[in-house]
Amino acid sequence: MSENSFLYHVLKDKLPISSEIELHLFDFCNLRCTFCGQDHESKEGMEEIRNKILPVQEFISKNTIDSHIVNIMGGEIFNDEVPDHLFKDYENLATSIHEHAQSLGHQCTFNWVTNLVFKKSHRVENLLTALKSKGISTNLSTSYDFSGRKTSLWKEDLFKENLEKFKTNIYTVGFVMTKPTIQFLLNQNDPYFEYLYGQFPIYFDFYVPEKTARFLMPSDQDMLDAYLFLAKRYPKVSPVKELLTRRENRMTCYSLNKLTLLPSGKEVKCRYLKYETHEFNNPIDYSSNENIVTAHLEENGCLSCEWFERCSFRCFVQADWSTRVKTPDCFFKTFFAEVIGDKNEVQTWN
Ligand SMILES: C[S@@+](CC[C@H](N)C(=O)[O-])C[C@H]1O[C@@H](n2cnc3c(N)ncnc32)[C@H](O)[C@@H]1O
Ligand code: SF4
Ligand code: SF4
Repeated sequence: MSENSFLYHVLKDKLPISSEIELHLFDFCNLRCTFCGQDHESKEGMEEIRNKILPVQEFISKNTIDSHIVNIMGGEIFNDEVPDHLFKDYENLATSIHEHAQSLGHQCTFNWVTNLVFKKSHRVENLLTALKSKGISTNLSTSYDFSGRKTSLWKEDLFKENLEKFKTNIYTVGFVMTKPTIQFLLNQNDPYFEYLYGQFPIYFDFYVPEKTARFLMPSDQDMLDAYLFLAKRYPKVSPVKELLTRRENRMTCYSLNKLTLLPSGKEVKCRYLKYETHEFNNPIDYSSNENIVTAHLEENGCLSCEWFERCSFRCFVQADWSTRVKTPDCFFKTFFAEVIGDKNEVQTWN
């Protein structure tokens, strides 16, 4: 985004303090989550991992921000079926990006995003050890789902075993807020969630619509119900925690300063590639989210909203979905009015 643009001017203090680099090395995966729109049989990109280095280095060189979160993922990059030599490619990828960033005085943190369903855990341990021995900041992010990740029991056991094994490396456990996941959450169907909540940082992320959106897209009322429930029962879940405890928040979406590379090397923001024009209110632009961020601010009157400083906004791709069922007012406004009341209030707990 140009620093001369109107959007930059109004959102300057709301932009995240790091850029995000999201690298999809390949789609090949050992699971078939209902909310994931990738082609999980495809090995495209698997033998071209080094081709991702240069575009990332160029993105870092051009960036005015000197801190970068590099999320590296598949598909499933640690899948037992991927060959051993790829782990050397992963190490080289992170090392080359790190060294380039360092030469410019920039900092990168490398997050390997994994479903933790693998038996060959020594490969992952070796990768983390090798990177850390070079002074590279690195950790794992994983995900769990009440409803969208129907899997066999032995795979569930592997997830749980690896979660314990890599406990000290886990940066976050993510949930995707689909309509069925919200229903599960509200009905309290999963005792394992209580355990996760006590042990790990948890992030409830917006569902980005893809091919099954007509079944999975939550209404704004579903989102409001989920946020109110989390604020009451699980207030330490992000991003709810930050909304409760901080009077000022930056937007959670990185797309205004983000590089996403798909397995083919194609550059996008965060959109699924097979969208149809009629599915969105605004024209689809795979190279920038500026039009849908602007549309959201205008539609909700964000710039004159009393919660502007506290609000972290939402997923703008979801917000622009043409058949999204809206609440009469912005659901965040209702959330803030119900749980915060006074905009200067902050909640604390032990
Ligand atoms: C594409 S997966 C790849 C990494 C790994 N296989 C995993 O599931 O953690 C990366 C992250 O995207 C999330 N994800 C997948 N589909 C999504 C969607 N439609 N909307 C939001 N997040 C999604 C997953 O839950 C996961 O946290
Ligand atoms: S494990 Fe990750 S990549 Fe695989 S289907 Fe699920 S969300 Fe998609
Ligand atoms: S509460 Fe709603 S209207 Fe207010 S700033 Fe946030 S998204 Fe915009």
